[in-house]
Amino acid sequence: MKKDLLTLNDINIDELEQIFTLAEKLKKERGKSNYFPLSGKSVGMIFAKSSTRTRVSFEVGIRELGGNPLYLNSASMQVGRGETIADTAKVLSRYLHGVVIRTFSHSDVETLAKEATFPVINALTDEYHPCQILADMMTVKEHSKKPLNEIKMVFAGDGSSNICNSLMLASKLTGMNLVVAAPEEYRPCENILNSAPKVTWEKDIMKAAENADYLYTDVYVSMGFEDESKERLAILKPYQVNKAVMNQAKPEAKFLHCLPAHRGEEVSADVMDSPASIVFDQAENRLHVQKAVLSLLFENFYK
Ligand code: CP
Ligand code: NVA
Repeated sequence: MKKDLLTLNDINIDELEQIFTLAEKLKKERGKSNYFPLSGKSVGMIFAKSSTRTRVSFEVGIRELGGNPLYLNSASMQVGRGETIADTAKVLSRYLHGVVIRTFSHSDVETLAKEATFPVINALTDEYHPCQILADMMTVKEHSKKPLNEIKMVFAGDGSSNICNSLMLASKLTGMNLVVAAPEEYRPCENILNSAPKVTWEKDIMKAAENADYLYTDVYVSMGFEDESKERLAILKPYQVNKAVMNQAKPEAKFLHCLPAHRGEEVSADVMDSPASIVFDQAENRLHVQKAVLSLLFENFYK
């Protein structure tokens, strides 16, 4: 394992398998194990954006592994008043054993990781959300009879989002077939698309959804993009995952969403609340998969 997990490009397929194996074990043994790989370790959790799932699952996960989590709202740190990321990294390196960070610019996370002497985990930037997609892949594995490289997933909506970028990297890693149903204005990042042989871009959502095993969507207005709300809601409206879209997919197809969801926007309420929806399994698996990531990164770094 590398020192940090900033994007899914930081892990290979063997490491992904290791993460899933450990996550499944930790899920089964939750509350019963004597496994405390973070014992005596303090982990900072720097958040510059809102969070429910990520904050709670990391905080609980770090504690369950024997570590000490410190929630740090970046607005109340000196970094919010102009102290550089590099200086912050050097100072925190004298106190902490690792950092989980959610912020806007991905390059800030890269700077932090470069300057810090501890492992850094990306808990969402404008560009990537690797921990979410690891939990999603674990969830898909649990619900599938086929291996990941035989699955067809459709991501509908904002193809330029952190979720879509990370899903494309997941396809590159696992060989999963991914069709991104998105309009020209929010098309998938060309560089990532070109690097991922099993990802295609399709503007017509009904065509994209044909024969899909999984339909995935995300909010139309990501955190930090609130100024663009009006045009995003208008342009992305035809990409809603609703019953008509689900009917194009396989009869046993499942619905995925990283959450939080906006019923009536990117997903209709009937799909969100249908038996096909496995969104809360995804949310639960954040805890297990992140515990596995923390354990493997720390065991490797502090051996
Ligand atoms: N899916 C996700 O990252 O949720 P939060 O924004 O609540 O952390
Ligand atoms: N794309 C969304 C994901 C939230 C988990 C956002 O960045 O707000």
